[in-house]
Amino acid sequence: SSPQTIIVERRDRVGLITLNRPKSLNALNGQLAIEALAALKAFDADDRVGSIVITGSARAFAAGADIAEMAEKPFTDFYMNDFLGPWDDVKSISKPIIAAVGGFALGGGCELALLCDFIIASEDAQFGQPEIKLGILPGIGGSQRLTRAVGKSLAMDLVLTGRTIGAAEAKAVGLVARVVPSSDLLQAALEAAHTIAGYNAPAVKMAKEAVNRAFEGPLSEGLRHERLLFQAAFATEGQKEGMNAFVNKRAPVFRHR
Ligand code: HXC
Repeated sequence: SSPQTIIVERRDRVGLITLNRPKSLNALNGQLAIEALAALKAFDADDRVGSIVITGSARAFAAGADIAEMAEKPFTDFYMNDFLGPWDDVKSISKPIIAAVGGFALGGGCELALLCDFIIASEDAQFGQPEIKLGILPGIGGSQRLTRAVGKSLAMDLVLTGRTIGAAEAKAVGLVARVVPSSDLLQAALEAAHTIAGYNAPAVKMAKEAVNRAFEGPLSEGLRHERLLFQAAFATEGQKEGMNAFVNKRAPVFRHR
């Protein structure tokens, strides 16, 4: 059955997921989590797709987990049914995921953006972890990923006061990779995704894996892992093609496998 909380499309070699619960500013409910992860896994398994974009509406990327759905949930429901569990699987997606963020990225919305590989924000984007105002705290990695992205002091400020920051400040602190005019947001994200999807697919997968190693284990392990992947890239057809094309002053044609 087709998803009800998201729109799933393929644009050339880019998989596009649009969060689509406009009445609640794309609040992330349990159904959306299941549908979004199913779409991500399907794109990851699809050879026609080289990279993925997740976006929302102009008003909101996502205003957080669905408060109405959570309000009366007992502890045992969260614990036994693992309401937030599907989001853990985002890290198993091997293809690059770009978050195209316009408007509110709050609470779980900010955390979802941080679960993606990088963020392109529109000028009117707002980031924050306002959970503290609801009597709770971040639940899908905000305390960890936000802290690694922006450092302890600002992460503590945002998590403890619940205030939001705009796109310019998010760019200045390294939370987002690029800021673009609101009218260009989707186009900019799709172009970046098309660029990535046009490269040697095994090298793209290896590059994502190598950068992610910077967040796990000691530096020496990360460097060793990178070296092995670098060497492995020479076993791919795309490496031969990319270097041969450069030497012969022509454009490379990658075969995406
Ligand atoms: C459910 C939400 C919602 C949310 C907004 N809405 N955010 N519904 N869950 N997280 C609904 C509103 O109730 C309202 O519905 C409609 O969307 C429009 O929102 P308004 O508040 O009327 O809009 P505005 O005045 O422009 O304010 C926008 C806003 C505000 C600043 C983003 O909506 C807000 O503060 N939302 C909550 C943000 C938040 O606390 N997020 C963290 C959630 S906890 P009606 O029916 O009245 O039109 C969380 C935990 C993470 O994320 C754990 C892991 C996932």
